Amino acid sequence: MQKTAFITGITGQDGSYLSEYLLSLNYKVTGLVRRNSVAENQDYRLLNINGIEVMYGDILDQSSLLNALNKFKPDEVYNLAAQSHVRISSEIPYFTSQVNAIGALNMLEAIRVSCPGVRYYQASSSEMFGQNIDNDGFQRETTKMNPVSPYGCAKLFAFNMTCHYRNAYGLNAANGILFNHESPRRGSNFVTNKIVKAAVLIKKGKLNKLELGNLDSFRDWGHSYDYVRAMHLINNAPVVSDFVVATGESHSVREFCAYVFKKLELDYKDYVTQNPKYMRPEELKVLRGDSRKIRQELGWIPNYNFEALLDELVDYWLSKL
Ligand code: NAP
Ligand code: GDD
Repeated sequence: MQKTAFITGITGQDGSYLSEYLLSLNYKVTGLVRRNSVAENQDYRLLNINGIEVMYGDILDQSSLLNALNKFKPDEVYNLAAQSHVRISSEIPYFTSQVNAIGALNMLEAIRVSCPGVRYYQASSSEMFGQNIDNDGFQRETTKMNPVSPYGCAKLFAFNMTCHYRNAYGLNAANGILFNHESPRRGSNFVTNKIVKAAVLIKKGKLNKLELGNLDSFRDWGHSYDYVRAMHLINNAPVVSDFVVATGESHSVREFCAYVFKKLELDYKDYVTQNPKYMRPEELKVLRGDSRKIRQELGWIPNYNFEALLDELVDYWLSKL
């Protein structure tokens, strides 16, 4: 029988890739879309994807969540809705906490009262670890969590609530602890697309400098397409539990710049400057994930490495600009 998935945050980077992936597996794909004053901005990432059914709603509007669950009767729920920008979360900490923490609680409560049997995926984040790293240099499911941003604190609340609803009420609720993942559909104020877009504009003579924040932070960057496959595996795992999803490779923002500019036959040092505006009140210095659990238990393997991801971003911006 055809399965139905319900996705909050369906208009985002991951929501769009997850929709495509689930449609390719013959799911009925449904989702929640926020009302936007410019209607064209509501679902531009979904415009080329046929067969999705959406409803207006908001993760902060409990009635819209209950209406959607009653209407779509999903087998699987993916809660991807979030204010997902870490630095901006320091400018709008209250709003970020509402959406990322209380929003997840709203979804869990809506499921508990209306459809407690569904499989529930919570979009948790490596930002929850803060500066904690195990002695071998990796973060994993057992690593202590001490977030260093309003975003990370709110995500940790949602993570804990997801575990609590699983333990207390028997919900099939799981966390994916995902490390950074990117794609051409990533918002261009995240560092990856910000760098690549600017480097291509510089190459084309349309820009002459790129202002960044901390060049010496390290991230474990993967591709969104690989990571939405992991979400589906987690939501169909034989035993409901939490999984880290990561490539295991970590690179600095500086290395990212060097690779992209070199590919365009430029030297990043000639163009990149630091602007305190893009620094964070507390920087998370290093992320590097150990994803052995999902690889061994669910057979997940990423297709993209660091270079393949960056090559795709460069090709995308070269063709777009
Ligand atoms: P994204 O592109 O920023 O998408 C966020 C989505 O949430 C958008 O569809 C947005 O809708 C929606 N949303 C925001 N506020 C909402 C609200 N109040 N009610 C309903 N929907 C709301 O983020 P992403 O990269 O796809 O990430 C997906 C999820 O994974 C997020 O929860 C993020 O925090 C988490 N995550 C991401 C990464 C990563 O590296 N990408 C890593 C770990 C965890 P609009 O289009 O209307 O704004
Ligand atoms: N955005 C941005 N802009 N980041 C910059 C800049 C800049 O101008 N300059 C340096 N950086 C550094 C940040 O300080 C951070 O260390 C790194 O680049 C990555 O920043 P982002 O791309 O904004 O991602 P993030 O790591 O803060 O958060 C992303 O990954 C999390 C998982 O670890 C987001 O996708 C979160 O939603 C996600 O949970």
